[in-house]
Amino acid sequence: MQTNFETVIINKMSTDDVDGVIKIEESAYGDHHWSKESFLNEINNELARYYTLHTPNGELAGYAGCWHILDEAHITTIAIAPNYRRKHYGQALLKRIIDDCYKEKIKYITLEVRVSNTAAINLYSKYGFTSFGTRKKYYQNNNEDALIMWTKNIFFDEFKNNYENIIKTLEEKITIK
Ligand SMILES: CC(C)(COP(=O)(O)OP(=O)(O)OC[C@H]1O[C@@H](n2cnc3c(N)ncnc32)[C@H](O)[C@@H]1OP(=O)(O)O)[C@@H](O)C(=O)NCCC(=O)NCCS
Repeated sequence: MQTNFETVIINKMSTDDVDGVIKIEESAYGDHHWSKESFLNEINNELARYYTLHTPNGELAGYAGCWHILDEAHITTIAIAPNYRRKHYGQALLKRIIDDCYKEKIKYITLEVRVSNTAAINLYSKYGFTSFGTRKKYYQNNNEDALIMWTKNIFFDEFKNNYENIIKTLEEKITIK
């Protein structure tokens, strides 16, 4: 068994987090990042669920968000600060989003991702998202296509068994509070 070497803290995103979130946005998306107002709107959007991830020393290392619409969730964003990537933090945030879906009886989860974004596509694929086509020229800054990814029904064994196995491995590596 691997050593559990790290604790991360996941909280609902608050207005106090937004300046730090914007810094990570800039580093992740350059000049086509979301505005501060977009995040402030999301915090007050009753369909939205937005979370931050802090390290034990209190540093904001990432955030993620989604919308819950009827029995579907739409992941709108997930980003980890460059110096904290590949430490399972993206998975920790995705876990929070998926666990919320189970609690709120959401059956399907979807998202769009740039076709060139191998890191994110691998992350989602690991959790059982599969591609259901593309949206052509979806990203206006460079006309890049978006891959549309969906889960199957997350209450079905195929998704759930894979999810439970991945989370078992994740929780051997990090503690999520
Ligand atoms: C995508 C992103 C959130 C992943 O966060 P992370 O904390 O580095 O990812 P994790 O350490 O939790 O990795 C989980 C899985 O993602 C995949 N992955 C993550 N980074 C990867 C990379 N650079 N190359 C290939 N696969 C990668 C792997 O499948 C990995 O599983 P593994 O550790 O078993 O190999 C991060 O790269 C990021 O912030 N990117 C910029 C913002 C962005 O593109 N967001 C997605 C928008 S849709």
